[in-house]
Amino acid sequence: MTKEHDQQDISLAEQYESYPYPERNPLDEKKRLFIGSPSHLNEIDYWVFGGHRKTSDTFRVLIAGCGTGDAAIMVAQQMARQNRPGEVICLDRANAVLNIVKERAKVRELTNICFVQGSIFDLPKLDLGKFDYIDCCGVLHHLPDPEQALLILKDALAVGGGIGLMVYAPHGRTGVYMLQDALAHLAPITDKPAQRLDVVKRVMRHLPQTAWLRGNNNFGDHLTGGDAGLYDLLLNPRDRAYTVDALWDLIDHTGFQISCFVEPARYDPKYLIADPKMRDKMEQMDARTQAVIAEGLAGNMATHVVYIRRAEDNLSFVDPASLDSIPFMREKPGDILASEILPSNLLPFAFGTLNVMFPLPAQARGFLGLIDGKRSLGEIIEVVKARGVPEKKIMPLWLETFDKLRSLNQLFVRVAK
Ligand SMILES: C[S@@+](CC[C@H](N)C(=O)[O-])C[C@H]1O[C@@H](n2cnc3c(N)ncnc32)[C@H](O)[C@@H]1O
Repeated sequence: MTKEHDQQDISLAEQYESYPYPERNPLDEKKRLFIGSPSHLNEIDYWVFGGHRKTSDTFRVLIAGCGTGDAAIMVAQQMARQNRPGEVICLDRANAVLNIVKERAKVRELTNICFVQGSIFDLPKLDLGKFDYIDCCGVLHHLPDPEQALLILKDALAVGGGIGLMVYAPHGRTGVYMLQDALAHLAPITDKPAQRLDVVKRVMRHLPQTAWLRGNNNFGDHLTGGDAGLYDLLLNPRDRAYTVDALWDLIDHTGFQISCFVEPARYDPKYLIADPKMRDKMEQMDARTQAVIAEGLAGNMATHVVYIRRAEDNLSFVDPASLDSIPFMREKPGDILASEILPSNLLPFAFGTLNVMFPLPAQARGFLGLIDGKRSLGEIIEVVKARGVPEKKIMPLWLETFDKLRSLNQLFVRVAK
């Protein structure tokens, strides 16, 4: 039996046919759009294409292991709103999940999305062409051979394209693997999904006070994710978590480079330890070591989101000091973000369950209020100058504001359309 058809994989296939994940009601598309990372179109524009890509260029997206379609619906909707030419292809092994994405897309009247039932491992045979961007969110860690899967995705990338990955991280999932180990005996993967679900529900009703899962509020799949969420968290037949180090190795071994972890500042330990001597010491270390330290210190990372590109492709970002560049926000409008800055010029920001304060220049509010995704930096600077900020101070203040808010994945720059 090949790894892809072993008992774990058979059980994985049964899981997603029985409990499509995440649990979604297509009619909810009338009420809200889920926004997240990876695969927010503005993030892709910046972290994958450095802000250089023209929005008029045809954009082909593959959602590899799309599940019930949160990323596919988000990116297809964002492309439709911005009249971007291109298509989003949803690939998944499970028919049940594809049926739900189809319904969601229908409610939204999206015409730029299509569906393919099949395995990532069969991608070379599917003849789907090359993709500018591939989303692979919450999938690699369930596969029999994640390295092989990543290499297959790499082959499907167009030159200069990139991938948005999400994989589980161990520390923030404390408690999950203990229960998975116990449930492997109580609800073996050879049992039918409904039987296994019944067992986990009984166990959860009587979970001892001391179970680590009870004190872990880094995720809520078992509390608010319905049957699909509970099953995916505690009964998934193959589930491995990656430390920063393990993920970095996987990315290196498959010939990719990291554009960024999301949010970049979350992986910078200087925001976690205020002691100046320790900060100086950590700043001497390379980015990987700093990220490893941040993961260990914070202890609350339950996933890692990372944008990667082929190692041999050049990765350059639009110069944030260029007066022709167009600053743009990820999602939250600039004036709203500005209103969240405290009178002390500190911006409270949540890295999941961890609240951190970011010092910003007082003038950050003024810049933010002027960013509309259309004005160039030059035009913004003219307005700030007219307000009386001394000319020679403006650029350093802008660059400090940009650097901080970019590291929070909030503010980017692009070339003019
Ligand atoms: C945890 S869900 C993630 C869904 C979605 N990407 C998300 O983030 O919400 C994993 C999905 O991967 C799919 N999957 C598992 N193995 C696969 C394979 N070899 N090829 C394609 N899809 C696969 C499953 O059917 C399931 O829908």
